[in-house]
Amino acid sequence: MTGRELPAPGVAATPPSTADLEHLRSALALAARGPLGDPNPRVGAVVTDAYGAVVGQGFHAGAGTAHAEVVALSEAGEMARGGAAYVTLEPCAHTGRTGPCTDALLVSGIARVFYAQADPTPVAGGGAERLRDAGVDVLGGVLAGEAEALNSAWTFAHRHGRPMVTWKLATTLDGRAAATDGTSRWITGEAARADVHDLRASCEAVLVGTGTALADDASLTARHPDGSLRARQPLRVVMGRRSLPAGATLLDESAPTLHLTTHDPRLALQALWDKGIRHVLLEGGPTLAAAFLRAGVVDEVVAYVAPVLLGAGHPTVGDLGITTIDSALRLEPVDVTVLGADVRIRARVATASPRTTDPATRPTPPEESH
Ligand SMILES: NC(=O)c1ccc[n+]([C@@H]2O[C@H](COP(=O)([O-])OP(=O)(O)OC[C@H]3O[C@@H](n4cnc5c(N)ncnc54)[C@H](OP(=O)(O)O)[C@@H]3O)[C@@H](O)[C@H]2O)c1
Repeated sequence: MTGRELPAPGVAATPPSTADLEHLRSALALAARGPLGDPNPRVGAVVTDAYGAVVGQGFHAGAGTAHAEVVALSEAGEMARGGAAYVTLEPCAHTGRTGPCTDALLVSGIARVFYAQADPTPVAGGGAERLRDAGVDVLGGVLAGEAEALNSAWTFAHRHGRPMVTWKLATTLDGRAAATDGTSRWITGEAARADVHDLRASCEAVLVGTGTALADDASLTARHPDGSLRARQPLRVVMGRRSLPAGATLLDESAPTLHLTTHDPRLALQALWDKGIRHVLLEGGPTLAAAFLRAGVVDEVVAYVAPVLLGAGHPTVGDLGITTIDSALRLEPVDVTVLGADVRIRARVATASPRTTDPATRPTPPEESH
């Protein structure tokens, strides 16, 4: 027990103390233990008793499991009464697969709630207001940047009303994605390829065009270095009108596969959004990458550049309609990392302003098969 004075009931939340910030930082560390590649955000929670002693901790372990607040509150039990909750995301006010966290907080008798990031989702948002209306002292926006960084793709997706798209490419030094005969295995070395599996595992869907699916017959699964499948697999998505032959690796049992017959990137993203997908890894090839770039729906680029020359073959990206250097699409570099003999460049693409499309007027999803 800290012997700290109890806040007077009904008094607005005071700025966070050093101890409050410490508890929120612990909640952020707990949140980071949640899974990547899940449609739900990673959330952590710490509950203290009325004297400031930690009595409950929890994190969200993925869609369909208990929310972080509920885990921490059940550990705290009656000791939460008159205490405080520190949550990395504004407590939700809606019933999804689990009940509203605001109700759980109110039933627990918690007196104060500190949260980091405001909930950007229209259905789950409004939790802070509901708690305040019920007489709880609420302070939001504390360490919000750190909390957003834990769920950057999820936050982006909800702000823009579509999944975030990361385009991953492996390129030779002279900008080739494949040789003239279509072979592209392998441009990069082992370290870069292992990194791609981490990237796949952190996304909920991996997308290629039929050109790549037919040329490479790749599995597009997320695997461990020994080749075994990771427990969590992204949805494999193929876009294009041609069918895949029976026996294509993408149709095997190792992960689900969706075939979208549209050529419209926005329609494809809408179909994936409707399936709960918030982060898509676009793995090419050059034609599909160009279509997404031209549609303005590539948000991040992860390029693995190998010290390899081909001189001829498929360019890394198709025609973007750019004819003069002044019109070049210039990306904002985020980091550059050496991976074995290769270099990974991560860069951001300036994206159109959030939520330009009203969800009510969004187009109907395209026909789907498989
Ligand atoms: N190095 C790398 O990072 C990398 C990555 C991927 C692929 N590759 C290489 O790239 C080569 C394949 O290139 P690719 O350009 O044919 O592959 P792609 O971009 O994967 O597929 C192109 C096909 O996608 C369909 N498609 C879907 N939406 C489209 C749209 N908006 N506009 C145009 N077409 C659309 C069309 O097929 P339909 O006629 O069926 O509709 C089109 O022919 C292979 O050799 C592969 O190894 C390299």
